[in-house]
Amino acid sequence: MEEWRGKVALITGASRGIGRAIARTLAEKGLYLALCARSQEALETLRVELAAFGAEVFVCAGDLADPAFPIRFVREAGEYFGRLDVVVNNAGVALAKPLEETTLEEWELQMAVNVRAPFLICREALPYLRRSALATIINISSVVGTKGYVHQGAYTASKHALMGFTKVLARELHPEGIRVHVIAPGGVGTDLIAAMRPDLLGERLITPEEIAEIVWFLLTMRNKNAVIDEVNVRRASNEPWK
Ligand SMILES: NC(=O)c1ccc[n+]([C@@H]2O[C@H](COP(=O)([O-])OP(=O)(O)OC[C@H]3O[C@@H](n4cnc5c(N)ncnc54)[C@H](OP(=O)(O)O)[C@@H]3O)[C@@H](O)[C@H]2O)c1
Repeated sequence: MEEWRGKVALITGASRGIGRAIARTLAEKGLYLALCARSQEALETLRVELAAFGAEVFVCAGDLADPAFPIRFVREAGEYFGRLDVVVNNAGVALAKPLEETTLEEWELQMAVNVRAPFLICREALPYLRRSALATIINISSVVGTKGYVHQGAYTASKHALMGFTKVLARELHPEGIRVHVIAPGGVGTDLIAAMRPDLLGERLITPEEIAEIVWFLLTMRNKNAVIDEVNVRRASNEPWK
């Protein structure tokens, strides 16, 4: 666990729900955090809360639907900490509507926030990740990244696309020892599910904290894989920067 202390995780959509739980868990484990969401106020409140764990926290408010913002967020976070070790593309928007009634603007918003922003963040973060011996990307997809549910056409298309580029990125970066994961949850008890599937609220939902535990599992189990470990050792010895 000690190897993660002081390492930097960049998390999108950290102000509420799953992103907030991931931020809290990683702060508890000793990581420093770069966090974004649209609400500056919510991010400032979270920064104060996470300071209790001794976490250094950089917050950046902005809209991931604007293609300039993901690029600015990574640049400012990288300049602030001088390093990035983990990227968690968590922010997402959902839409409950028959495909036939979905407007072009609604379709494009799903694609912009759920796919284009993660793509830009991964691309911009790579120069930093390449300098980290623990480099990891975790993209939060959904069960609709592989399945199709009625009235979730645009959301489903965006999560399939996220899943697709994540698979390719995992293969492209594997030779360098950069780990790329996707988590595809079913219903998680957050604002998003309350709006999308209010019928599920009486059911047992996954908790945001359970998703955060999966993120921590993925970060810490990396050395169990001998092949990856070998790549990491070789790369770390070439780049001793800690
Ligand atoms: N909840 C579920 O059942 C479930 C299931 C499977 C997958 N997921 C996925 O898990 C991820 C997190 O979902 P959640 O349930 O935690 O959602 P949530 O409670 O609605 O939180 C979404 C987070 O993303 C931020 N965000 C939304 N739009 C943004 C934008 N345009 N620019 C910047 N930040 C934005 C929000 O902050 P602001 O509003 O302040 O911007 C908030 O911090 C999403 O990718 C979602 O698709 C959720």
